Amino acid sequence: MQDSILITGVSSGIGLATAKDLLHRGFRVYGSVRRGAGETQLREHPAFTALQFDVRDREAIRAGIQRIRDDGARLVGLVNNAGVAISGPVETVSEEEYRRQFEVNVYGLVAVCQEALPLLHEAREAGFRARIVNIGSVSGYLTSPFTTIYSASKFAVEALTDGLRRELLPFGIDVISVAPGPVKTPIWRKGREQTAAFENNRYSNMLNKLGPYTEAAEADGVAPEIVAEVIYRALTDERPDPAVLVMKKGWIAKLLRLTPKRFQDKFFTKRLAENRRY
Ligand SMILES: NC(=O)c1ccc[n+]([C@@H]2O[C@H](COP(=O)([O-])OP(=O)(O)OC[C@H]3O[C@@H](n4cnc5c(N)ncnc54)[C@H](OP(=O)(O)O)[C@@H]3O)[C@@H](O)[C@H]2O)c1
Repeated sequence: MQDSILITGVSSGIGLATAKDLLHRGFRVYGSVRRGAGETQLREHPAFTALQFDVRDREAIRAGIQRIRDDGARLVGLVNNAGVAISGPVETVSEEEYRRQFEVNVYGLVAVCQEALPLLHEAREAGFRARIVNIGSVSGYLTSPFTTIYSASKFAVEALTDGLRRELLPFGIDVISVAPGPVKTPIWRKGREQTAAFENNRYSNMLNKLGPYTEAAEADGVAPEIVAEVIYRALTDERPDPAVLVMKKGWIAKLLRLTPKRFQDKFFTKRLAENRRY
């Protein structure tokens, strides 16, 4: 029987690259999509099964997990990848948007873990490796202005990862955070479809810079395939690092995290003025 991995959000970006990578390496992949049956290349692969669910819909997640159970598959890994990125000033972001940020990135992740864990326990009890990989972000290490709500959700993902790992270690299930810096995916463009926070307001001068700032982040980002390989290692290495930062010049972020907050304030203000993130 092939080892199976469940990945949430395989329609594009890191989730899609990870699904392709794991299929190529011989895993069976269950990938969640919200519309249709998912990307053509995946749909045509005999070892791929699309599960149609939104991570905010508990019943639909449950039906997806039941499909894995009905297939008699051995679930050895869960990659919590689905996420959205809401930007804009905290003062003006709409209630609907800041709630959606947490509903998808945080509560959705908890719901998928709760539903998938019985299958992971079963795999572990049968003597197989069982892992959860949560896709965090450098924004879960440091908070840039105007991506504050997103950052708050990713700090929560780091806390969930550490706490869940400590709860599950007695059962032999490891929980790992893979936290990328900027990656070439459409996530920020999708987030910019929200408008309320960007309407004419007292932050407008700074917000005009935010477009180029996030576009530059996407342009300078690493390829999603690089993140996919790190996820593969997190799922399979004998003793994986429980918190991996995947980022060009990641040492800057690690060092910056140790500096006084006032120094970080100056760093981010200067970077925003220069349309750069890190
Ligand atoms: N790109 C970066 O620079 C970056 C950096 C650090 C961390 N990350 C993290 O990496 C993960 C993947 O993002 P990405 O950059 O690959 O962006 P992406 O291409 O936009 O992929 C996000 C995936 O999540 C899915 N998704 C969104 N809302 C969902 C919901 N409510 N229920 C189920 N699925 C949902 C999307 O599906 P739809 O197509 O249906 O919306 C899509 O498949 C996210 O957790 C993100 O925070 C990204």
